[in-house]
Amino acid sequence: MKEQIERIMAEIQSLQCKTEKEVEEARVRLLGKKGEITQLFDEFRTIAPELKREFGQKLNVLKKEATAKIDELKAAAGSSSAASSSEDATMPGDIYTLGSRHPVSIAREEIVGIFRKFGYDVAEGPEVEDDYHVFEALNFPPNHPARDMQDTFFVSTGHVNPLLLRTHTSSVQVRAMESMKLPIRIVCPGRVFRNEAISARAHCIFHQIEGLYIDENVTFADLKQAILLFAREMFGPDAQIRMRPSYFPFTEPSAEVDVSCNICHGKGCNICKGTGWLEILGCGMVDPNVLEASGIDSKKYSGFAFGMGIERIAMLKWQVNDLRHYFENDMRFLREFSTCVEV
Ligand code: DAH
Repeated sequence: MKEQIERIMAEIQSLQCKTEKEVEEARVRLLGKKGEITQLFDEFRTIAPELKREFGQKLNVLKKEATAKIDELKAAAGSSSAASSSEDATMPGDIYTLGSRHPVSIAREEIVGIFRKFGYDVAEGPEVEDDYHVFEALNFPPNHPARDMQDTFFVSTGHVNPLLLRTHTSSVQVRAMESMKLPIRIVCPGRVFRNEAISARAHCIFHQIEGLYIDENVTFADLKQAILLFAREMFGPDAQIRMRPSYFPFTEPSAEVDVSCNICHGKGCNICKGTGWLEILGCGMVDPNVLEASGIDSKKYSGFAFGMGIERIAMLKWQVNDLRHYFENDMRFLREFSTCVEV
């Protein structure tokens, strides 16, 4: 064993390797599972006890030397192969430009962030929904035009309760009322689908945020205040709102809300078409039929709901004049938003 140790030690000292592959071969030959040094360790177990001390030390030194030499050769081979490649290590590095958030995401996060501050939770629901959650439970009469094939993308027809792509996020209201404990205070952001021709003002895919608040004694005054506070956070402290009577099957009374034009400050410009007002959302008091359909006692509880288009809010905030910009991934458009939030 003594001779073997000495021979291997001499070999290590004079070992030379040019490539990383050669170093690896030497490592396997000496220190691998069946390597020469490993085998010596196996043999060591069988030698006479009085020799153990002497050979144990020698073997440990041998192993240490071999490991150090292999490491040294590996480092040298690595750096020489990098140096000999055609790359010029003195060249300046590639410049990576940071991406930016999409304006729809920025607007969604801003809107959701405002309502979170007011104590709302976030709820989500499926994009492929059934007729019940999109229409039926929301008090849409059987022949309401919104159920028409022209508006709705159906996934399956012919059933009592066909599957379809949700046309609004109001469906998440229904799912929340079915599954959440009262009181409920939520906003529901999500993608919606309508079978519409694509133009500057309409798209077949867009995004909405639905809001729902149900508790005892919720009144229209609470709704008005929530919307006013939202408008001021979103469009600035001087923003005013006005409510116009409207109709939605799931709210009674219903209203459409306009915010004072943040471009001309009410004087009238081409964005607000000279009116000084911009429409931002629809809202109302949840119809008792809707509460009852989801098993909520409408004598004890009341609530309000609202729904807004994210693209529309973003258009008003950043004066985007064509909905199609949001979907075309034109870098010149997207880059304009790189300073809106930190990435
Ligand atoms: N779901 C309506 C739409 O897509 C928007 C809406 C209006 C939602 C009034 C509401 C509401 O919750 O109360 O046009």
